[in-house]
Order: sequence, then C-alpha cells, then structure tokens
Amino acid sequence: PVPKILVCRTMPTSVLKAAAAAGKVELITRPDDEGEQAPSRDWVLSHLPGVSGAVICLSERVDAEFLDAAGPSLKVISTMSVGYDHIDLALVKSRGIRVGNTPGVLDDAVAELCLLLALMVTRQVPVALRTVQEGRWPSFPWTPTCFMGPSMGAKTIGFLGFGNISQSLANLLVPFKPKRLVYTTSRPRKFDAADGYFGSLVRGGFPVERIAVENVDKMQLAKVADVVFVLVDLNPTTKHIVDKEFLAAMKTSAYVVNASRGGTVDTAALAEALRTNSIAGAGLDVIEGEPDIQASHPLLAPDCRDKVALLPHIGSGTTETRQAMADMTMKNVLGALGLRDGHGKEAVMDAEL
Ligand code: GLV
Ligand code: GLV
Repeated sequence: PVPKILVCRTMPTSVLKAAAAAGKVELITRPDDEGEQAPSRDWVLSHLPGVSGAVICLSERVDAEFLDAAGPSLKVISTMSVGYDHIDLALVKSRGIRVGNTPGVLDDAVAELCLLLALMVTRQVPVALRTVQEGRWPSFPWTPTCFMGPSMGAKTIGFLGFGNISQSLANLLVPFKPKRLVYTTSRPRKFDAADGYFGSLVRGGFPVERIAVENVDKMQLAKVADVVFVLVDLNPTTKHIVDKEFLAAMKTSAYVVNASRGGTVDTAALAEALRTNSIAGAGLDVIEGEPDIQASHPLLAPDCRDKVALLPHIGSGTTETRQAMADMTMKNVLGALGLRDGHGKEAVMDAEL
C-alpha cells in the first residue's frame, strides 16, 4: 500500500498532490467546509493511526499522545513553521521519527515585519490610526508636536539572538544609519563579526561608513539599546528572556519588538513597565496566550494600548514566503519517505534541531 500522509491544514499542496496523482502517496486532508481553521485535537488524533507522515502547523502539539496515536508507521513530521517549540523533539527523535521545518525561506518576511513594528510603535501609528478610524481627526489637527516619536536613525539597535532573521533585519536597518548594533547569541552562527563591523552604508554606489556590531551580554544590551528586537527561538533558556529585571535595565526611551514566540517576553512585566513609563513602547507579533487575546487584555487596556502595536502573528505572511513554506513543508515529507522527485529546493530535515 502507498504511504498515507495526514495534512492537518488546508494549504497549497501542489507538491503532495502531484505525488498523490502519481500514486505515490495517499493524502488525508481537512474537510472542505472547515476552511483554514485549525483542526480539533480529536480530529488529529483520530486520523493519525497508520500514517507515515504528518504535515502540521504551530497549533498541533506533538507529544506522546500524538505519537502513540500514530503508532509505528509514522516516519516524518513536517511543520509549516521555522519554530518547533510545539514539538517534543527529544521524544520524537528517541522514536526515530524525522522532523522537518521551514528555515531560510521566511527570514526576510519576518525581518520586514520587525521593521514595520518598530516604525509603527516609535511613530505612534496605532493611536494615530485609531484617531482617524474613530472620526477624531478633526480634534487633532496638525500641530508641531502631534504624534511625534523618535527617528529610527542613528540609534543603538539590540538583537536578542543573532540568527538568520536578525541578520536579515540588520541588513534592512543599515540604510537607517544605526549608531551601533549589539547582539546576544547562545550558539555560533554563520555570521562572522571578527572584524567588528556588520555592513557598510552605501552612497552613490560606494561604501562610505561601516556599522559597528558587538556581541554583548544580555543586561548590557538592555542598558544600551534604543530598540530591542527579540528573535530567539523559544526553549527553556529563552523563556522570559525579557523579564522584569531586563525591562528595568532598559532606557525609559527604549522599545521592545518581539516576533519570536510570546513566551520569550514576560507579558505581565511588560504591561507593568509600559504603565509605569519604565520603557516607551512595544511592538509585538506574538504574545503569551495567543490567540486567546481579548480586548480586555492588559496590553490593550486604555493605560497601555497607545504604546503597543500588537499584531496577530503575521510575521511570515508574504504571499511568496507562505508559498515557499508550504512547498518546503511538503518536500520535507516526501524527502524523508524517499519519494522526492529531484526538482526544486532540497528538503530541509532535522536542520539545526
Ligand atoms: C512562525 O511563527 C514560524 O515559526 O514559522
Ligand atoms: C507637514 O505636513 C509639513 O508640511 O511639514
């Protein structure tokens, strides 16, 4: 019999569909009438028995219950995400099951969103937009000081984590002429900062000025950065990496931008820091407890919301990137089952995991 693949989400599945059409795999897909909604846990567990591969997203938790439901036929789990904190990796590996994710194809999209969040929150876009949308512009005509905020130029930019997304973002920030880039990292990266510079400003086609970049410790970064970008993967060592102590060390004029996982920032401590003006603002694409965030959330309350740009986890959401992620997710499954057709980008399996 051909291997069965459980595809837990409605997504562009051209690669797997081609394999199915060629009789190489059998697809188990979501009912058409459930749209793009996340499947219930029951739906997932009841469709797992006997599958060789599972295509999942962030909301599908992979634990002993998941693996037991699938049984010994399961050879590969492929997640349409670069993050894999929803997968119990040690357990999965101990059972000899391979894991695929989607690194490399979303760095630029997430970096662009980080820049957008930083500009939104520094230039007070959330409150400015609300003013217009609620018909209150007539009460806020242009004044010399209305909706002011700091320029992104000439600032010290901090990166918690200096992986692919941070480096893509650093490239986007170079034209803003940052004063200095500082970063923390827990593991050696491709990036070689040996000469102490990241990139050069280019004018008229010529590099004119180099941007200093330094590996510093976390509390040092908290003290000097005007904007802190949180771009670490979530694991026990990065949980609440931005905590009360970190926020207290930040400048009162500084901003936090998080596009990693909600769990890297202590939300209660962040709300307190914003309420007490101990930092200037926060741009968030992720938050603890998402997606169950109500309008009554402390960060959306009247004493906080004007300093917060909160988006519903859309970092990788360019059309091009989501297509590339879907393609890679599917190829990972076929690759692990030895069914790759040899076309397109190679499967990324067990990368860095
Ligand atoms: C999204 O958050 C991802 O991990 O790709
Ligand atoms: C503002 O609109 C300006 O003209 O400076």
